[in-house]
Amino acid sequence: MNNRRLRVGLVGGGQGSFFAHPHIKAIHMDGKAAVVAAALRSNPEAAIEDAKNWAFPIKGYASYQEMIQDQKNLPENEKLDYIVIVTPNHAHYDPAKLALEAGIPVFCEKPLTLNLSEAQDLKSLSQSHRVPFAVAHTYLGHWSSRFSRFLVQSGLIGEVRWVDSSYLQGWLAHKSEEDGQKQAAWRTDPSKTGISNCGGDIGTHAYMQLRYLTGLEVEEVSARLESFVEGRNLDDHFTTYCKLSNGSKALIRASQIAIGHKNNFTIEINGSHGSLIWKQEESECVRVLLPDQPDRIYWRGDVFPNDGFLNDIPEDLLEESTLPSGHSEGFHDALARLHRSFAQDVRSYNNNDDFHCDGSKYANVEDGRLGVAFINAAVSSNQEDGAWKTIQ
Ligand SMILES: NC(=O)c1ccc[n+]([C@@H]2O[C@H](COP(=O)([O-])OP(=O)(O)OC[C@H]3O[C@@H](n4cnc5c(N)ncnc54)[C@H](O)[C@@H]3O)[C@@H](O)[C@H]2O)c1
Repeated sequence: MNNRRLRVGLVGGGQGSFFAHPHIKAIHMDGKAAVVAAALRSNPEAAIEDAKNWAFPIKGYASYQEMIQDQKNLPENEKLDYIVIVTPNHAHYDPAKLALEAGIPVFCEKPLTLNLSEAQDLKSLSQSHRVPFAVAHTYLGHWSSRFSRFLVQSGLIGEVRWVDSSYLQGWLAHKSEEDGQKQAAWRTDPSKTGISNCGGDIGTHAYMQLRYLTGLEVEEVSARLESFVEGRNLDDHFTTYCKLSNGSKALIRASQIAIGHKNNFTIEINGSHGSLIWKQEESECVRVLLPDQPDRIYWRGDVFPNDGFLNDIPEDLLEESTLPSGHSEGFHDALARLHRSFAQDVRSYNNNDDFHCDGSKYANVEDGRLGVAFINAAVSSNQEDGAWKTIQ
């Protein structure tokens, strides 16, 4: 396989922006891909200006339309291999659609789109054009998430009975959107964020982590969306009770008014033989609780087969760890693991080979579509006093 450095284009990431920067670090981590072009802002002059002042040389474009359009004029060795869309939610759909139509793979932020018809459209386009598509559910990229998925899906804690997936933050406990906080301003504006703030922003992570670790689908949801900060149009606290595809139940919840909580994202899975606990703020380890035994803490890099609980561990899972135990991987490493997995599919696509894009290494376009469907169902349940709604 051709191992040349992949060329990545950014949509979003101008001065003062947040999440483009973790993406840039993640893309560059292995030296096998680099950001070479960008449409950094919606204002054309500002986009060009920011590109000129970028920390390293990139080709600046006035808009994503121009960047995508330009690809067909470029020689093969300058064309982008994929684009990363890291704009507010209302500006995901259009660049993703244009890129797919031009045959350019897309790594898009969550929640995928503002509504279900846009999400469905992206799914159809990525299928009909056969183009790889990733959705940036960062937490799937922690080694401990991969390991938890293996533990649960190989039946080691038995049949899943109950899941509590909870993502708590406190940064919107006050009206930060009125204090010039850009990230708060668009997240609480329905025209830019969609029909749910807290649910769309972090509830979708809690939803996706449950699906990724357990392999179960959330079939029905009964929801309460609340807004505790006076004058805020959208939810800052999001609670759903869910029916899962094996007949078990779950709580999927998120809050941005939980003062003191930074990124307290925890999932606890209770099975018929034992329980598993994963915490993003302590993401180097996974806790397994078994009856009548001391609790087991599995640290990344320090996991061995035949320990009285684990029989075998897939070789490719062990190989995904990047450092010896005790030297911390973290958030950037998780995002890098997603980019690394996606890049493999992009290389296969470039070679006209089959690619996976099956949701086992990163969230795909169907996962993104389901995330939007989950939010739709939750909002509609809340409007009907918590009535059960199907996710489809
Ligand atoms: N996966 C994760 O863990 C994670 C974490 C944080 C944010 N996010 C997602 O990332 C996205 C961006 O969030 P953020 O907090 O970085 O926002 P931000 O406001 O910090 O940055 C958004 C950037 O997009 C630019 N932009 C807006 N419209 C544009 C357009 N039409 N063309 C080009 N650029 C445009 C803005 O100028 C800005 O540079 C959101 O969808 C958010 O949900 C994901």
